[in-house]
Amino acid sequence: MMLCCPDLSGTRPVLISKASNLACPIDGEPLVFHEKQLVCKNGHSFDVARQGYVNLLPVQHKRSKEPGDSKEMVVARTEFLNSGFYTPVANKLTEILSSQLSNNHPDQQETSFLDAGCGEGYYLDFIYNKLEINNKKLNHANNTFSWIGLDISKPAIVSAAKRNNQISWIVGSNRQPPVLKNSVDIILCVFGFQHYPGFRKILKKGGRIILVEPGEGHLKELREIIYHDQKITDVTRSSLAGENGFQIVDNQPLLYKTKINNNEQIKNLLLMTPHFYRANKTGREVTLKLQEIEITVDMVFSVLENK
Ligand SMILES: C[S@@+](CC[C@H](N)C(=O)[O-])C[C@H]1O[C@@H](n2cnc3c(N)ncnc32)[C@H](O)[C@@H]1O
Repeated sequence: MMLCCPDLSGTRPVLISKASNLACPIDGEPLVFHEKQLVCKNGHSFDVARQGYVNLLPVQHKRSKEPGDSKEMVVARTEFLNSGFYTPVANKLTEILSSQLSNNHPDQQETSFLDAGCGEGYYLDFIYNKLEINNKKLNHANNTFSWIGLDISKPAIVSAAKRNNQISWIVGSNRQPPVLKNSVDIILCVFGFQHYPGFRKILKKGGRIILVEPGEGHLKELREIIYHDQKITDVTRSSLAGENGFQIVDNQPLLYKTKINNNEQIKNLLLMTPHFYRANKTGREVTLKLQEIEITVDMVFSVLENK
C-alpha cells in the first residue's frame, strides 16, 4: 500500500511504502489491506491490531503458547538499547546495509527490507530513520523502501509498533516468513534465529542476508563473572551458509569496550541475553548486584548472497 506524506524540505511529496509483499501464512497468497484487515483471495483475514501490528502466526505454526522473548526480556532490551550502549552496532549495520544498496539495478524503484527476529525494533527503526532522511535529502522520491519487522514474540512486536508506524510490524516465524516468494532484497538477522530455508524462499535471486553474530570476546567480562572459569562461547552459525545455497561475500568485525555504571542497566543486559537463563543461581545473584562493569562488545557482520 502506498501512502503519501509531505516532504519536510517542502519540495515534493515523498512516497512511503508500507510493505506490499506480505503473504497469507495459510496459503501463501498475497495479502492486501481491506478496511482494518489484511485479507487474501481465499478469504483468510488478519486484523490490524489497535497498536498497528498484524499477527500472522497461525496456531499450527506455534511450538509453544507464548513463543519468543517474554515481555520482561523485551522491556530490558528496550531500556538497554535506548541508552546507546549499542549505537556503534546500529551505525555499523546501517553502513553495511547502505553499501549493499549499490548492488541494486539502477532502474529498481523499491527495495524491500525484512528484519527477521527484529525484537522490539531498535535496529530497524534506527536504519529507517537514517535511510529515509537521507533519501529525502537526496530527493530520491522514486526510490522507495519497504520495511517489514518480523518476530515470533508478540510482546516484542507490540513494543516495536510504538517505535515507528511506517514499518509493517508482523508477529510471525522465520521458519515460515509470511512474505511472498522472491520478494525481499535484504534480510537483516541481528542475534536472531537463522532459518536459511525460510530466508531463501522469500529472498530475490542475488538478494542478501546481513547477519550480526557475537564474536568470541563478546561480553567476556560478564561471562567470566557468571561462569567463572567455564569457557562458554556462543556458536556462530553463518558458517552453515554455504550448505544452504548462500555465499559469504563480506565479513567485518566490530570491537569496542563500554562502561556500564548503573546496576539497572547491568540487570537489563543480563535479562536480555540467554546468560540469564544459563547462569547458575550464584552467578546470577553476583551479577545482579554489580554496580559497574566494563564490557567488550565483539560482533561479526556477515553478508550472504542468495546464489
Ligand atoms: C536475541 S533477540 C534479538 C532481537 C533483535 N534482533 C535485537 O538484536 O535487538 C532474538 C529474537 O528472535 C526472536 N525469535 C526467536 N525465534 C524466532 C522465530 N522462529 N522467528 C522469528 N523470531 C524469533 C525472539 O523473540 C527475539 O526477539
